[in-house]
Amino acid sequence: MILSGKARLAGVIGWPVSHSKSPRLHGYWLENMGIDGTYLPLAIEPENFEAAVRGLMHSGFGGVNVTVPHKEAALAFCDEVDPLAKRIGAVNTIVFKNGRSYGSNTDAFGFIENLKQGAEKLDFSLGFSGLKTVVLGAGGASRGVIVALQDAGVQNIILVNRTRERAEVLAADLSSGADGMITVADWDDRNNVLNGCDLLVNTTSLGMAGQPPLELSLDKLPKSCVVTDIVYAPLVTPLLALAKERGNKIVDGLGMLLHQARPGFEAWFGEKPEVTEDLRKFVLES
Ligand code: ATR
Repeated sequence: MILSGKARLAGVIGWPVSHSKSPRLHGYWLENMGIDGTYLPLAIEPENFEAAVRGLMHSGFGGVNVTVPHKEAALAFCDEVDPLAKRIGAVNTIVFKNGRSYGSNTDAFGFIENLKQGAEKLDFSLGFSGLKTVVLGAGGASRGVIVALQDAGVQNIILVNRTRERAEVLAADLSSGADGMITVADWDDRNNVLNGCDLLVNTTSLGMAGQPPLELSLDKLPKSCVVTDIVYAPLVTPLLALAKERGNKIVDGLGMLLHQARPGFEAWFGEKPEVTEDLRKFVLES
């Protein structure tokens, strides 16, 4: 695409940023919709974050996505932050308007949209309120997932993390003011809490290419349980492969990445993008 002088500009800020699939993803939408605009990978060191974002804001950028390790700094930086991003404690999408910055977090949206679309594709329904849900992991990604589940109406969340204190802090943080319960369980109990589980979510980095596998026995997991992983490289993680083999429905994590990008794209480029099978293939090819 050859740009005009009126081209719309956006990008992703990370350190490093070379692994990010966002430029390819947004580039696909821009190209397919024939939009006069571009989306750049922006490698910004932590100490330069604020100066860089300010510079982009005053250079005509419509906004940026923010990824590791800048999401908390982005929350502190923005002039206004939406309530959901405040609850999650991180901003991943910034929109600039009239010299002001507006921060939001679209990870929760991405997670739930992926789950809903996965359910539709696999022909099962997810009535969220009655689900016993087990969430593995209490890192940054887990916060977005738990907020998404709470907002979808899930009342019963069991949170399991290697470092129990981290899970306790997260549970206390996200329980206040929310309906339902977050119960913390020990990492050593992770196989047992799967008894009666309706939805299992892995938010740890285990199972990701280059990371150790997630050691989990699914013997107690009901066959009716839906299993999802936010790791998408590999697309079918060992956890998903095992779950599928024993007959559970599985939803891979790629859709979360694709759906979380939609609100930013729409804000910066003025068109509603779609998540299609073609897009999934295109993003995976890289
Ligand atoms: P992210 O922002 O992607 O969630 P993170 O904040 O570093 O990244 O969190 C990584 C998650 O994977 C945490 O839940 C972490 O457990 P701890 O809180 O105990 O560190 C989990 N994790 C990473 N390596 C692990 C391992 N070898 N065994 C168990 N859990 C692990």
